[in-house]
Amino acid sequence: MSFLDRLFGRREPEAASPPKKSAPPSKSAQPARPAQRQKPAQLPKPAPAAAPERPAMAPGTRIAHHFELIAQLEQDHRDLLRIYSGLRRASDAGRMQEAGEQLETFRHALQGHLLKENVKLYVYLEHTLAADATSHELMHGFRHEMDRIGKAVMVFLDRYRDLAGHPEWKDDFARELDGIGKVLVERMRNEESNLYPLYGPP
Ligand SMILES: [Fe+2]
Repeated sequence: MSFLDRLFGRREPEAASPPKKSAPPSKSAQPARPAQRQKPAQLPKPAPAAAPERPAMAPGTRIAHHFELIAQLEQDHRDLLRIYSGLRRASDAGRMQEAGEQLETFRHALQGHLLKENVKLYVYLEHTLAADATSHELMHGFRHEMDRIGKAVMVFLDRYRDLAGHPEWKDDFARELDGIGKVLVERMRNEESNLYPLYGPP
C-alpha cells in the first residue's frame, strides 16, 4: 500500500482477504450470533391482547356481572314457551304419554331458569341496588311474586306428575295448563320489560 493510500485510508480490496474458515466452536466463544438478517419491515404491532376480562363483581361480593346473562334468561323464556306449546299440543290431541314427558321437560327447564334467576340475577341485584330504594323495592316485588308463582306451578307439576298414566285427567289438565300459561307469559313479559333492565354493571 502506497503512502497516499495509507494517508487517505484506502482499504485493501475485500476480495484480497482470504476467506475465513469458520472457526470450530470453542467453549469460551460467545454463542454464535445468527447471521445478520435483514430486519423485517416494521409491521404495525398488533394491539396487545386484551387482558382476560375479569367479570365485574357486585360491591362487597364475589357475584359477577355477566353481560350475557339477560340474553340467556330471555332465551330460557323462549325455550319454556316452546316446551309449553308442545305440551299443549300433545295434551289437546290426547297424546298423554307425550304430554307427560313434555311436562317433565318443562319442569326441568323452569327449575333451571328459576335457579339461574335466583343465583345470578336476584342476589346480584340485592347488592347493586342496595343504595337505590325504589329499584330495590321493585326488584323485591318481582322476587316475591315469582316465589308465589313458582310454588303454584310446582304444585301443578307435582299434581300431574303421573299424567301419562291418566288420560282421564285430560280436561282438568288442559284447563289448569291454560291458566298456568297465561300467568307465565304475563310474568315473562313483565320481567323482560321491567326487571331485566335493572341488571347492569356495578
Ligand atoms: Fe324469568
